[in-house]
Amino acid sequence: MGKRIVVTGGSGAAGQHVIAYLLDQGHDILNIDLVPIPDPRLAERVHTLRADLSDSGQTFNALCSHFHLTEPFREPLRQLPDAVVHLAGYARNMMVPDNETFRGNALSMYNIVEAACRLGIRKVIFASSITVYGVSFAEGDVDYPSFPVDEEVDANPMDTYAISKVCGERIARGFARRFGVDIYVLRLGRVVAPHEYAEDMFRSYVQEPERWKAHGWSYIDARDLGQICDRAVATDGLGYQIFNAVNDTITNNSPSTVEFLKSVAPQTPITRDMGQDEAPVSNRKVRELLGFKENHPWRRYYSS
Ligand SMILES: NC(=O)c1ccc[n+]([C@@H]2O[C@H](COP(=O)([O-])OP(=O)(O)OC[C@H]3O[C@@H](n4cnc5c(N)ncnc54)[C@H](O)[C@@H]3O)[C@@H](O)[C@H]2O)c1
Repeated sequence: MGKRIVVTGGSGAAGQHVIAYLLDQGHDILNIDLVPIPDPRLAERVHTLRADLSDSGQTFNALCSHFHLTEPFREPLRQLPDAVVHLAGYARNMMVPDNETFRGNALSMYNIVEAACRLGIRKVIFASSITVYGVSFAEGDVDYPSFPVDEEVDANPMDTYAISKVCGERIARGFARRFGVDIYVLRLGRVVAPHEYAEDMFRSYVQEPERWKAHGWSYIDARDLGQICDRAVATDGLGYQIFNAVNDTITNNSPSTVEFLKSVAPQTPITRDMGQDEAPVSNRKVRELLGFKENHPWRRYYSS
């Protein structure tokens, strides 16, 4: 049966695909964002409540909102959402000064988690990032601690965006413990929208793979991210969890992931056998615990 799900940041690049996927699964969605959904066809299917989630009062109030604007308001009235999927935030460094990146992201994550827990919403899913592994926005050339990059690898970034995400993860861990709720952190790889397989970045992933350590030679298709969010909503009782949210395979045509990694990161230890074209950032946990099965491998869409 469809659930009532609040998606935050649903007007953004990832959020629009996540909302479309969740609607297609029969869920009822409310989008909370600072701005409207740009795609008019999607905007027709979901209400956007404009709120600044770095403001606690707006966050509490927004999570208590009706999902649809009708005259009069219809049932269900005053029913809390079943889950919150929190994607809103500054999606990288240097969109705004660092102190604002930190303020906006850390406060929004705190406010969402606190409001959900205090109101009695028992499932929160939120977007962290593989940048927490410290390579993407390092000052200088830094290596991953080991491959595959699974969720046990130390998250010790030096940049403000990733530090704000690490703070969000710790907030989530503490509140999940205090309130006994499920909070699932998704460490997203670079989110690839369908049109991007034909664009420069993906072409460069394939043709100049040595350039893409920052993305961990891994990605998440925006529609497959929708599936992961849906699986996270459907899977109860795991408490606090961190999942890498990436697709299955490496983003280039090297014949062996292990040989490729040995050539581009010779100092980095490889801690287990890896599949022939396995992504260096591991999605084993999200497949095993949430039952994720990728529907959008990049080779289906890419042509050089
Ligand atoms: N795009 C990626 O490759 C990527 C990779 C890793 C993690 N992430 C994370 O995924 C999430 C979504 O990323 P995206 O690429 O869709 O970003 P985006 O910038 O396209 O969308 C983010 C949305 O959040 C909204 N927002 C920002 N601050 C807000 C606030 N205070 N209150 C309400 N809404 C607010 C924005 O208006 C925007 O619509 C972010 O949390 C980002 O950090 C993205």
